[in-house]
Amino acid sequence: MIDYEMLIREAVAARENSYSPYSRFMVGAALLCASGKIYKGCNIENVAYTPTNCAERTAFFCALAAGEREFTAIAIAGWGKNKDPGRTLPCGVCRQVMMEFCDPQTFLIIAAAGEKDYKTFYLQELLPEAFGAGCEEIV
Ligand code: THU
Repeated sequence: MIDYEMLIREAVAARENSYSPYSRFMVGAALLCASGKIYKGCNIENVAYTPTNCAERTAFFCALAAGEREFTAIAIAGWGKNKDPGRTLPCGVCRQVMMEFCDPQTFLIIAAAGEKDYKTFYLQELLPEAFGAGCEEIV
């Protein structure tokens, strides 16, 4: 059983470290691994804009670099300019990174506006008909 509220709290805590002077949109993510460990990530922006890394990918890359390879769920918490928490869904690039390492039928994405205000999606719902490992074979 995934403790959604706990994972959302971790995502909110991760958001504190957001480096987002350009968009002023702070995002935090908490990635639950099959090992039970949680890796946190925040968005990290850049003056050249394109090197910006989203909170989700930061969490994934931290976990992957630590040797994790099996993932259960990710909670995402965004916070806009007006400090009005809305639901933040992962961008296309982050969805593709998730597709590389997660089972789209079971990996759960928790888009949170608050501890008790969230929506869940399976990766398959957010990236249907995906280009996945194995699809690149030329026949
Ligand atoms: N961002 C994330 O970190 N995650 C998302 O799911 C959506 C967008 C970041 C990227 C950029 O730093 C800021 O939010 C505005 O797009």
